[in-house]
Amino acid sequence: MPSMPSMQNAPAVSFRIRPVTLNDRNAILQLEGLSFDPDAWEGEEIYSSRIEQFAAGCLLLEESDEVVGFLTTELWSVEHWTEELFEEWPEEVCSHHADGHSLYISSIAVHPLHRNRGHASVLLREGLRSILFKYEQIEQIILTVAESWHPARRLYARHGFEQRLLLRDFFGGNALAHHDGILMTVSRSRFLHLCESNTVLHS
Ligand SMILES: CC(C)(COP(=O)(O)OP(=O)(O)OC[C@H]1O[C@@H](n2cnc3c(N)ncnc32)[C@H](O)[C@@H]1OP(=O)(O)O)[C@@H](O)C(=O)NCCC(=O)NCCS
Repeated sequence: MPSMPSMQNAPAVSFRIRPVTLNDRNAILQLEGLSFDPDAWEGEEIYSSRIEQFAAGCLLLEESDEVVGFLTTELWSVEHWTEELFEEWPEEVCSHHADGHSLYISSIAVHPLHRNRGHASVLLREGLRSILFKYEQIEQIILTVAESWHPARRLYARHGFEQRLLLRDFFGGNALAHHDGILMTVSRSRFLHLCESNTVLHS
């Protein structure tokens, strides 16, 4: 994994992206707590199973050995995206399949004190690229984002993701306010082309 160069005249800061291990769960849960409303917390069991099923698809961004961001993904084998699929969320479909052709971004977050410095962009560009190179079967990258999470929507749009479906009341718990979600996708070739040509799209 690449290291990002430190700024000139600034104290040396070293960054690295590395695969997550089960020992990193607490750091991830801490970042999740700082980054999402409680009704969107997924918790220890879900992160443990993501790491156990697809450790190579779960990455951490560290700055001078401090965890400042994470990205988790799964391989899905869905061919057609419909609103009904996301309403029903069938376990056998919306879950990791080792031979899946779609890389589903299940979560990404950067520590609030480290935002707006390009960390999530690096996690997407370098992290996703490393997963795509390892898993040549991946044809597209997909994710769901809450309509109201504007920084995340801008991040994805800058990296070539396009809106495919509006998912009504997708986010939110039983007693909590519901939020619409958006399904966004980008093809493998478009994502890699934008990364390799160093193109950032404006949302
Ligand atoms: C969404 C999130 C991951 C973005 O993290 P981040 O590290 O701040 O993202 P980036 O720094 O790459 O981009 C954020 C902004 O910084 C700007 N930026 C500043 N310096 C930059 C640099 N060196 N390189 C790239 N972008 C830079 C970007 O242009 C962008 O501006 P914009 O929001 O006005 O378009 C973060 O806000 C977060 O954790 N949110 C809460 C969790 C969440 O919503 N997750 C998404 C779930 S779907």
